[in-house]
Amino acid sequence: MTSNTLTITDNRTGKRYEVPIEEGNVIRATKLRDIKNGPDDFGLMSYDPAFTNTASCKSKVSFIDGDQGILRYRGYPIQELAEKSTYLETAYLIVKGELPDLKHFRVWEHNVKIHTMVHENIKKFMEGFRYDAHPMGMLVSTIAALSTFYPEAAQIHDLESRRLQTRRLIGKLPTLAAFAYRHTRGLPYVYPDNELSYAGNFLAMLFKMTELTYKPDPALERALDVLFILHADHEQNCSANAMRSVGSSQVDPYSATAAAAAALYGPLHGGANEQAIRMLMEIGSVDKVPAFIRTVKEGQRRLMGFGHRIYKNYDPRAKIVKQIAYQVFEVTGRNPLIDIALELERIALQDEYFIAHKLYPNVDFYSGIIYQAMGFPMTMFPVLFAIPRTSGWMAQWAEMVRDSEQKIARPRQVYIGEPERHWTLIDKRREPTMREDQVSEVI
Ligand SMILES: CC(C)(COP(=O)(O)OP(=O)(O)OC[C@H]1O[C@@H](n2cnc3c(N)ncnc32)[C@H](O)[C@@H]1OP(=O)(O)O)[C@@H](O)C(=O)NCCC(=O)NCCS
Repeated sequence: MTSNTLTITDNRTGKRYEVPIEEGNVIRATKLRDIKNGPDDFGLMSYDPAFTNTASCKSKVSFIDGDQGILRYRGYPIQELAEKSTYLETAYLIVKGELPDLKHFRVWEHNVKIHTMVHENIKKFMEGFRYDAHPMGMLVSTIAALSTFYPEAAQIHDLESRRLQTRRLIGKLPTLAAFAYRHTRGLPYVYPDNELSYAGNFLAMLFKMTELTYKPDPALERALDVLFILHADHEQNCSANAMRSVGSSQVDPYSATAAAAAALYGPLHGGANEQAIRMLMEIGSVDKVPAFIRTVKEGQRRLMGFGHRIYKNYDPRAKIVKQIAYQVFEVTGRNPLIDIALELERIALQDEYFIAHKLYPNVDFYSGIIYQAMGFPMTMFPVLFAIPRTSGWMAQWAEMVRDSEQKIARPRQVYIGEPERHWTLIDKRREPTMREDQVSEVI
């Protein structure tokens, strides 16, 4: 007879415990607390640094099968959305759970676009940054500053307030991102043009000069929109986890989004495509690729833009990004780094080291090449990521707020520090004697 349970025998006590298996492969970590060595024992807990095998929530937003290379938003394959949808429609799908009909889409588009303007004080706030401020640092701070403009956003249990802040954030992010870019260029900020599409308006706010109306190139506009679709959500990644974790304190969504954007600022998350570009520039030419691959196999380097915690197959987004690259080059001219990237991929995909380690190109391998061809400096790469990911963050946050099983996020720790000891007068203390490894731990 089979049953959906796990039987655990505690060899310290000889006791047996039945733990239910939910959803096919999930056990509740709190069940381990029942396993005690004696009446005063705290009970067992699991230790999982970086949450590599711990589900922190139940979610309906996106699904990844890393072995098969599958990504779906609300059940829809990423390939279909990239081919047929627009970012604004995909954002609706992500935050509301269903694709809109025409009437609902029109209302949604209107509701997002009426929030593209920002308060003039936000503009002044941004003007206060140094001339060479990193645009992502500006974006993170300005998102946080929005919470001071919309104090009603603290009503996180109010459905209408959540909807309003979601539309506001999706509407305002391109404006903040473009202002940050213009600031680093010493150019006047450009106000939104709501006659244009979401991506088209963003391009206008970035690149408009003296012309009365800016006409975005349709190929670049569509390429950017598809890149936005590809970056809209990616289940419990570092920034989504930051959004949920910070949001679980019941802070307003602007503050939680600022925390999520801060997580995205890091080189292991939103900055990986910059590292990929730097690597390609360092390699310099196609003939240097085999030597570079050797250094990677010897463990001296990593092939940036390759490998993924979840995907052990070709990242489905990377395939689409690679196709977009050629469409963009038709307009911008070919970015010569693509030839080095293609050669790296060709050699890596048939090399036994990369095959054995299941290392395939991820979304960051080609995206930087496109952004560079479109004229974006590398400092803008994480900013370009944050714009579309805002819909994912808001969907993850709203799911967390409505989930009755969620509480303030508060992991346990395994304490490995000193046992109890007592304070002494400063002149009675001995010079601390520390081992080398302890010194680096405490500074
Ligand atoms: C994404 C990444 C951080 C995932 O890391 P992870 O799941 O923690 O995997 P690990 O770092 O434990 O690596 C597992 C093995 O693959 C190897 N490996 C992983 N990524 C590699 C890469 N890009 N180049 C060469 N070897 C790599 C590791 O050396 C390790 O080998 P070992 O088992 O022989 O020691 C990692 O693949 C990486 O650093 N990639 C490059 C950076 C990047 O593109 N990041 C963007 C992700 S979207």
